[in-house]
Amino acid sequence: MVEPGNLTKVTAHMVSSLDGYIAAKDNRVEWMNSKDRFDQGVTLSKEEITAFLENIDCYVMGSRTYEHALELGWPYGDTPVYVFTKRSLPKKYPNVHFLTGDLNQVMQTQLKSDHCNIWVVGGSNLIRQFIQFGLVDELIVTIVPVILGDGQPFFESIEKEQPLHLKNVRAYTNGMVELTYSFQLI
Ligand SMILES: NC(=O)c1ccc[n+]([C@@H]2O[C@H](COP(=O)([O-])OP(=O)(O)OC[C@H]3O[C@@H](n4cnc5c(N)ncnc54)[C@H](OP(=O)(O)O)[C@@H]3O)[C@@H](O)[C@H]2O)c1
Repeated sequence: MVEPGNLTKVTAHMVSSLDGYIAAKDNRVEWMNSKDRFDQGVTLSKEEITAFLENIDCYVMGSRTYEHALELGWPYGDTPVYVFTKRSLPKKYPNVHFLTGDLNQVMQTQLKSDHCNIWVVGGSNLIRQFIQFGLVDELIVTIVPVILGDGQPFFESIEKEQPLHLKNVRAYTNGMVELTYSFQLI
């Protein structure tokens, strides 16, 4: 339960190719493991990554991302995972919860009341709705140094022009670049 006065933050995070695809046409994912080298970049230690992940209160995803995560190997440990779906899907882990209905309402009544640091991890279908409904505080895009040429586009028909505030840019030694945007203009 979120203590009164504590603010909830909703972060949407996606990994994208330079040409704006979040998934290869055949769902291959090895393109996300960059073999590039950028000497001026930073490398996070295991301890830094663990501390960062421990700070995340819950993950939110669409059903296609859930199904793909099950195929690839579950990366979410026992952190609560909320999966939006209208289907009846197998609950493979006890920390998985299925949600359906009005996104706005579900966020207010079920997620924001219980979690402070909410991470929406995709896919583009779900993140598009979060952006359309103004439910995202921060958007992080990690750009992999690759042109995929085809696949599933990150931004498709958001149907709303939105200025963003660039909060941070971080380049990594593997050539990935992380762009952090806030929806609140300063
Ligand atoms: N590059 C990255 O960072 C990244 C991140 C995540 C995923 N991906 C990739 O992206 C692909 C999946 O993305 P996607 O955009 O196709 O799908 P998605 O967003 O993961 O899931 C879409 C599905 O979620 C359900 N859904 C969405 N909104 C809903 C709502 N308001 N209420 C109830 N259910 C709702 C619907 O499924 P039902 O039919 O079940 O109702 C919908 O078809 C996969 O290949 C995945 O690996 C990439």
